[in-house]
Amino acid sequence: MKTLTVDLGERSYPIHIGEGLLQRPQLITGHVKGRQVMVVSNETIAPLYLDTVHQLFRGFELESVILPDGEQYKTLDTLNLVFDALLEKRFNRSCTLVALGGGVVGDITGFAAASYQRGVGFLQIPTTLLAQVDSSVGGKTGVNHALGKNMIGAFYQPGCVLIDTNTLDTLDDRQLAAGLAEVIKYGLIRDADFFDWLETHIDSLKSRNKNALGDAIELSCAIKAEIVAADERESGQRALLNLGHTFGHAIETGTGYGSWLHGEAVAAGMLMAADLSARHQWLSQTDVDRIEALLQRAGLPTRAPEEMNEARFMSLMAVDKKVINGNLRLVLLKAIGEAVISNDFDPGLLYETLTSAA
Ligand code: NAD
Ligand code: GLY
Repeated sequence: MKTLTVDLGERSYPIHIGEGLLQRPQLITGHVKGRQVMVVSNETIAPLYLDTVHQLFRGFELESVILPDGEQYKTLDTLNLVFDALLEKRFNRSCTLVALGGGVVGDITGFAAASYQRGVGFLQIPTTLLAQVDSSVGGKTGVNHALGKNMIGAFYQPGCVLIDTNTLDTLDDRQLAAGLAEVIKYGLIRDADFFDWLETHIDSLKSRNKNALGDAIELSCAIKAEIVAADERESGQRALLNLGHTFGHAIETGTGYGSWLHGEAVAAGMLMAADLSARHQWLSQTDVDRIEALLQRAGLPTRAPEEMNEARFMSLMAVDKKVINGNLRLVLLKAIGEAVISNDFDPGLLYETLTSAA
């Protein structure tokens, strides 16, 4: 087992990573607030892991709420199902919500924990690769709005993240690939050596070699933990974690939530960011080709869907959270391993990227 720490002073918390950790209650029960524990999961994950997680919290006053499965349910209506369950079961302020699932369950549960009675305990048990390397760490929580992704939410850190890599055994290949998009993102924004390592190990990762997966999760979480500790509320460098996301969120919203997976949209978006960086002569075409090849070997799309024309991209990107005073800011690449956030890009070159993306 490996343990990392997200260093946020009094709100610091551990990330435990390893095989079989769902059998180790001592890693997580010390982080429960109060005696009441509500496990929030969904209809796909609950049949696989809810009994095991109930064993983990044996001895607590334990309830669960099972949500519908899918990005299209990451809504205020679904959030309300969590509040309904908490109130029906008479949960008081001294209680803890446990997110058991992927990023959708994690984001909804975190926002419920942030707002139920103005804030209660929150623990993360992520079960997708994407959630294990990204969404369970860092405290971004929230839901989508029909007009924009993740537009309603709060920063709210968990008290512990418990990553049992054995849960990846039941994940399908498409979801595993979606998680690899965020892993590749870390190499691109921060660590050229990690990008090289990924080029060498991508086949082991795709074939679910546990050592390779454990190493990739640990390195990804270490990069994320460092960035979050330095800039929890995204006033600066945390925005780098959004490489590909401005384009990707536009694809997700524009195609209707759920048809493109978040990681798939981010993959196509990262190649668009690389393409725009190359059009500014910041990145060489050889590097763009390397990025495209790695994404393709991971099983990810590198072209935007055909319905996403330039006008559609521009109107959806205008509601991105990185827009300040009407100015669009984008995360771009100066090199593999070095990302920058910039509003100093040529709109004509952005037009070329958008028109050639699909
Ligand atoms: P997801 O939560 O929809 O999970 C993907 C699918 O896998 C679902 O059908 C789920 O039921 C299923 N599943 C989960 N674990 C499983 C397992 N072990 N075995 C079998 N099936 C399993 O999608 P995701 O990719 O985990 O997360 C995407 C969401 O995360 C998006 O809403 C995105 O906006 C959000 N996100 C948030 C952050 C953040 O910092 N908060 C970061 C990145 C992404
Ligand atoms: N996934 C982006 C962030 O956590 O900041």
